[in-house]
Amino acid sequence: MKKSEKYYVCNNCGYESDKWFAKCPMCNELESAVEYTADLNLKGEHIETPNIIFLDQKVDPPKKIPTNFKEVDQVLNGGLVKGAVYLLSGEPGIGKSTLLSQMAKFIEDTNGSIIYVSGEESTEQVIQRFYRLGINNKNIGLVFESNVESIIKSFEKNHVKPFVVFIDSIQTLKSENVDSSPGSIIQVRESARKMVEFAKTRNVTIILVGHVTKEGSIAGPKILEHMVDCVLQMDIEGSSGLRLLKVTKNRFGPTDEVVLFEISQKGLKPIENITSFLLSDYSNEPGNTLSIVKVGQKLLPIEIQALVSNPVYGSPRRVTSGIPLDRLLMIIAVLSKKLKLPLESKDIFVNTAGGLRITDSSMDVAIALSLISSYLDLPLSFFLIAFGEIGLDGRIRGISLLEKRIELAKKIGAENIISPKKFSDKKIKINVVENIKDLIKLFKKGEN
Ligand code: TYD
Ligand code: MG
Repeated sequence: MKKSEKYYVCNNCGYESDKWFAKCPMCNELESAVEYTADLNLKGEHIETPNIIFLDQKVDPPKKIPTNFKEVDQVLNGGLVKGAVYLLSGEPGIGKSTLLSQMAKFIEDTNGSIIYVSGEESTEQVIQRFYRLGINNKNIGLVFESNVESIIKSFEKNHVKPFVVFIDSIQTLKSENVDSSPGSIIQVRESARKMVEFAKTRNVTIILVGHVTKEGSIAGPKILEHMVDCVLQMDIEGSSGLRLLKVTKNRFGPTDEVVLFEISQKGLKPIENITSFLLSDYSNEPGNTLSIVKVGQKLLPIEIQALVSNPVYGSPRRVTSGIPLDRLLMIIAVLSKKLKLPLESKDIFVNTAGGLRITDSSMDVAIALSLISSYLDLPLSFFLIAFGEIGLDGRIRGISLLEKRIELAKKIGAENIISPKKFSDKKIKINVVENIKDLIKLFKKGEN
C-alpha cells in the first residue's frame, strides 16, 4: 500500500497540484513548484466527532483580556482573546518588534507568562531593545529558536503556561514536517498551522509577525490571513513617518479602528492630540483648504494642498499623495465642465499635509476648493472648513456624521463651515453650498 503521496505547491501563491508545473497556472510564477510529500498514514488518524450545538444553548462571547496598552486595546476592541491567533504585518523596520515588546510590558502577570520567540534577531539585540524601552518585567520570557516543535516543547520542559506567545517572525519558523527552507510558502503555512493548532488546543493567544513585501502582500502566503483570527497591519503614513496601526480582519469585532504613533528611540508613542499635530503648519495660502475626514472610526482634520501649474512637457501630469488619483481626476473633470476652468491642460499636484492617506469622499469639496484656489492664485476669504461629496452632475451631496464634524471644526476654531446641508449652530457660521458653481464665491476676489 502507498504510504506517501507526492504533490507540488507553488512557492509564490500556494497553488497545489499532483503534477509538476513549470509555470504556476494561478500566479504565472516560473519554476515555483516545490515537491511536497504528505504522509498518508497520518490521514484519518485523528478523526474527531464534533458536537452539534443548537442555538438555544448558551455560548459566552469571547472574553477580551486587556493588554493595558490603551491604544492597542482600542484597535483590538478591548484586548486579546484567549486561544486566538493574530497576525501583525508590516514592512521591515516599521516597528513590529517594538510594538510587541511594548505590549508585553503592560500585560498583567496574573494572566500568565508572555513568551517572546525570536527567530531573526540575536539574544543581545532582543534584550537590548527591551532595555532601551525600559522593560524588565519578570513574566516576560525569551525563546531563541526557529523550530516550531522545539518551541512548543520548550514550554513543557520549562513548566511555563504562556498566556500569549509572540512569534517574531513567522517567516523564520521551520517545522520538521516539511522539508523546505524557512520563509518558503510551504514552511510558513505548515509552521503557522502548527502554531494555530497549539493556540486552539492549549488556549494560548498567539501573535505572529509577518513581513510584508514591497508590493504590500504578506511575504509569500496570503493564505496566512485566512488561517488567523485577526490581522493587524502597521503602515507608514506618507511623509510624516507616523505609524498607523489598524485591524484589517477581525473575528471578534469591527475592523475600522486606527491608531497613530510616533516612533523614536524610546519606542512607539501614541499621538494624543492628533488635531494640533495635523494642523500645526496650516496657513491660508492659495491652494490650501481644511476638511474633516473619517479615518477608521476617527474624525480627523486634514489639510489639502493643491498646485495647479502650466505643464513643462506636452501632456499634463496629475500627481497625488494621500488621496486616490481617480477621485482627483473626477473632480478635475467636473470643475472643467461645470465651471469652465481650463484645468484639463494643467499640471496638477494634490497632497494631504503629512501624506495621511484618505479615502473618505467627504473631502471632495475641499479638494475642489484647493484646485480653484491654486488656479486663481487666491486664498480662501475666511478660515473655513469644507465638507461634502461631489457628484458627477456638480451637485454637492450630504455626508455622514455632519454634527460630529461640526463639533470638531468648532474645537479647531473655524469661523465658517461649508456644508451641503443646513444645520443650526449659534457658535459657527454654516454656509450651505449645494452646487460646485457656488464655490467660486468663497474667494477674496469673489467677495470684493
Ligand atoms: P522594529 O520594531 O525593529 O521594526 P520591525 O520589527 O518592524 O522590523 O523597529 C525598528 C524601528 O526602531 C526603526 O524605525 C528604528 C527604531 N530604532 C531605534 O530608534 N533605535 C534603535 O537602537 C533601533 C535598533 C531601532
Ligand atoms: Mg522585527
